[in-house]
Amino acid sequence: MIDLRSDTVTKPTPGMLAAMAAAEVGDEQEREDPTTNELQRRMAQLLGHEAALFLPTATMANQTALRVLSRPGCKVVAEERTHVLIYEWGGPAIHSGLIMQGLVAEAGRPTPEQIEEVDEFGPGGVLVLENTHRSSGGQIWPPEEFQASLDAARSRGAAVHLDGARLFNAAVAAGVEPAAWGTLADTVTICFSKGLGCPFGAILAGPVETIEQAWEGKFLFGGALRQSGVAAAAMLYALDHHVERLADDHARAKRLAEGIGLDPSTAETNFVPIRDEPGLRQRLLERGVRVGGLRPGWLRAVTHLDIGDAEIDEAIERMQDEVRVHA
Ligand SMILES: Cc1ncc(COP(=O)(O)O)c(C=O)c1O
Repeated sequence: MIDLRSDTVTKPTPGMLAAMAAAEVGDEQEREDPTTNELQRRMAQLLGHEAALFLPTATMANQTALRVLSRPGCKVVAEERTHVLIYEWGGPAIHSGLIMQGLVAEAGRPTPEQIEEVDEFGPGGVLVLENTHRSSGGQIWPPEEFQASLDAARSRGAAVHLDGARLFNAAVAAGVEPAAWGTLADTVTICFSKGLGCPFGAILAGPVETIEQAWEGKFLFGGALRQSGVAAAAMLYALDHHVERLADDHARAKRLAEGIGLDPSTAETNFVPIRDEPGLRQRLLERGVRVGGLRPGWLRAVTHLDIGDAEIDEAIERMQDEVRVHA
């Protein structure tokens, strides 16, 4: 079975497991875990922020950020298929008392004009920008456009959170540092259990004061661990070994798209968007290829650490007749 459902299906490599086994650890809640502290230091620097906080999941990082940046009764605004609005179980409403408003926007990118027109949006509200944007097929938000939308939110008095779960994919594909986007937003989430290949782990970065407040959310949500260095060691290993190789995932996604008769430019990073047809997913499954859902009417084939050139060749072989017919 060739598993292209998501980049979350990867298993830790022997090198990563060895790094985890060798991790120097301490009590994270006392801020005494040296490996976690080192991870936080490196990530703050990479994202262009003063401080960073380790959290077990990107969902927890997003929810912690919203709690710090907002006031109950205010709005969280994002493109309508952004992860925080549709896959986090109403977390913004439940944890932070926020009104959730989705905007219909091309490629997952609300424009400055759309943001300027949002009713009752101001201080205490938060705009969430997602880059790469999952439901639009892993598309990259160009930094200038990103800045313009962010400026529009700031001019309304709202804060801006970047869900950069796959920001390293965007950075590697665009050939810029993750800080090109990271430093602009008030807070940034990075997920390590996707293209970076860790079993779990996320980072929230921001100003020192904001990250100090985020510790409260870490305890409140049950994300304050003890010897978290075991996870942080995997994450540091991923920073050293799994960032540049994301370019291979992107090249393989383009090759897969082309091989099954699609326009390779639709695979901007590691997602190949495929138009859905009744029964297509099941037929692909029967041929030994698993694909995932992207958004209504669309499937995705996602390249990742456990997919090499041989798997791509084989996937093209198995998929081309099915997808070509229905493209
Ligand atoms: C854009 C985006 N943000 C956040 C998350 C949440 O990540 P986690 O599973 O670590 O909570 C995901 C996971 O799929 C995602 O795609």
